[in-house]
Amino acid sequence: MTLWYLARAAGVVTMVMFTLSAVLGMVMPRIRKPERRFWLQYVHRSAAVTGLVLLTTHVVAVIADTYVSISPTVLYWPFGSGYRPFAMAVGVLALYSLVLASLVGASRGRLAVSARFAKYWRKLHIAASVGWLLSIGHALLAGTDRTTPWMLSITVTCLAAVAIAGAYRLNATPISRAWRAQ
Ligand code: HEM
Repeated sequence: MTLWYLARAAGVVTMVMFTLSAVLGMVMPRIRKPERRFWLQYVHRSAAVTGLVLLTTHVVAVIADTYVSISPTVLYWPFGSGYRPFAMAVGVLALYSLVLASLVGASRGRLAVSARFAKYWRKLHIAASVGWLLSIGHALLAGTDRTTPWMLSITVTCLAAVAIAGAYRLNATPISRAWRAQ
């Protein structure tokens, strides 16, 4: 059962890491001090990278584990899983969105010189929010522990943190929005 427990624990921490990254990304426009923005950006990216490493651990462990049968083919055909098919499809779609967002994020520095890319960057980065929401959906649908009080409180805390960060961002003054656009 070690792999099964490792898989589930990695899934929970993956969700927490992507939530941390989402919260920091959302509050960024309100932060004006360059030094503070630098550190926030640093932790935002580090949380996303840690999330990706743990997501890889989660996926490799659920596939390698023999307690339930999940074929690697689920990664390119998300609708074919024999185990909790809907929840697995939602998880794989979350993975696609988050990997896309990471690739776009990683190439931002190099491609920022292109005006076309800079224009579409924000729209493409929405994949991260979609992926985060799908990962919460997956946790609520897939997890063995999804109805236990401790797991529910982690999931609800993740949802509340992003909702509060979203409200904080929407309340950005016109000045901080103008600053962000620079
Ligand atoms: C961003 C993507 C993902 C996140 C954040 C995530 C997170 C989670 C979480 C929090 C759980 C609940 C653990 C528990 O209740 O003990 C879970 C369970 C699970 N996930 Fe994921 N997951 C993701 C993607 C995937 C993918 C792509 C697959 C399939 C290849 C997958 C397969 C599973 C399985 C098999 C379980 C266990 C279900 C059970 O406990 O019966 N996950 N995941």
